[in-house]
Amino acid sequence: MDPTFRAPRGVGGTYVPPPDKSITHRALMLAAVSSSPSRIRRPLSTGDCNSTRRCLESLGVRFTDTADGVEVQGVGLRGFAEPLRPLDAENSGTTMRLLSGLLAGQGILVVLSGDDSLVRRPMGRVVEPLREMGAHIEGRESGRFAPLCFIPGAGDLRPISWDLPVASAQVKSSLLLAALRATGASRIGGKIGSRDHTERMLRALGVRLDRQDSSLRVDPVKSLPGFDGDVPGDVSSAAFLVAAALVNGRKLTIHGCGVNPTRCGFLEVARRMGASLDIAEESSSLGEPAGSIMVHPAALRGATVAAVEVPELIDEIPLLAVLGLFAHGRTEVRGASELRVKESDRLTMIARMVECLGGKLEIFEDGFAVDGPQELRPGVVDPQGDHRIAMAAAVAGAGVPGGVKVAGFDCSRVSYPDFIRDFIALGGEVA
Ligand code: S3P
Repeated sequence: MDPTFRAPRGVGGTYVPPPDKSITHRALMLAAVSSSPSRIRRPLSTGDCNSTRRCLESLGVRFTDTADGVEVQGVGLRGFAEPLRPLDAENSGTTMRLLSGLLAGQGILVVLSGDDSLVRRPMGRVVEPLREMGAHIEGRESGRFAPLCFIPGAGDLRPISWDLPVASAQVKSSLLLAALRATGASRIGGKIGSRDHTERMLRALGVRLDRQDSSLRVDPVKSLPGFDGDVPGDVSSAAFLVAAALVNGRKLTIHGCGVNPTRCGFLEVARRMGASLDIAEESSSLGEPAGSIMVHPAALRGATVAAVEVPELIDEIPLLAVLGLFAHGRTEVRGASELRVKESDRLTMIARMVECLGGKLEIFEDGFAVDGPQELRPGVVDPQGDHRIAMAAAVAGAGVPGGVKVAGFDCSRVSYPDFIRDFIALGGEVA
């Protein structure tokens, strides 16, 4: 599917984003290892989160779809069954890294692999600390890459004291999940300032998890209780429509959206770029705040994003490049070298996207700078299977007269299966 995205009438209106991908992964995994049944309302039920569900099913966890979500029969923290076949995390880094934390030291043989993108992404960052805890894990190139193989017979996991060298919520979460089964309290320090969904959910389930001297201290537990929870809308998915409204739009009101501050960095930068944004917190479930976001477009100006801000907007950086093309002045992002090891080398892909539209962008090892506004021409962008590049290119189409064609747009289903429907409902055109 190679649709062309345009928005001659602008983008705006009222909308509810799809369920949060990060929160769904965690809710499915924690429900799977709890000791009584759980109900998860409005989980994301496609793409990456389905990879998590299928892996858990292969480990003996039973899921039953209901009218408003899914019921999960948890098997307990040590209750996984040895799977008959290798598990496939497909395109999902969150599935592979978080599940590794649950599989470490389980005493069963599990092989975990993924698609062509995932088997090239760094896994040593979870394998190394999990081995330090006593888990027996092998993997390609000495465990630096998948396939990973979890080997039985390692005995109980030891507590860990570990400083994270990269700000990765996936690595932090993997260690927190493994620490639940350790023989004593663990400490996770270093770069812990990434999205905090795992911390919030574990605390909501009664786990003792404190922040002490810029580190997390987590106690092991005998079991986790089942739970009832609602998954809020995904602010990272909503960000695509926010950006479309900002490059060419009208007022946009978003309801039922997650507003966890560790995920709202993009909205903060959009404010600095001149957007007027109101965020109202209205409810909370699974320890996560949810509410409404009102976006009032205004003339955009360039902004500088510092390295410390990057973890809170890591998935929205392609959108900052798009906004930079339409903003007055320079937009610069530094300290984002993690983008090189996402579903694609996203910095290279951002540069290619801009080039395909006749724009100019200076690329650095750890970021980019773009001077705007630029005169763009209609073009064809090939995101090479990266969902966020595909949707960022579609958003650029909202501001380019004549539109932008995106080759292989199907890859967007990994996080946002109904993007085209929502883009059209808010005034965009897709041909
Ligand atoms: C995620 C964490 C981020 C993010 C990814 C989802 C998560 O990755 O890019 O889309 O759910 O924990 P890193 O933790 O590797 O930065």
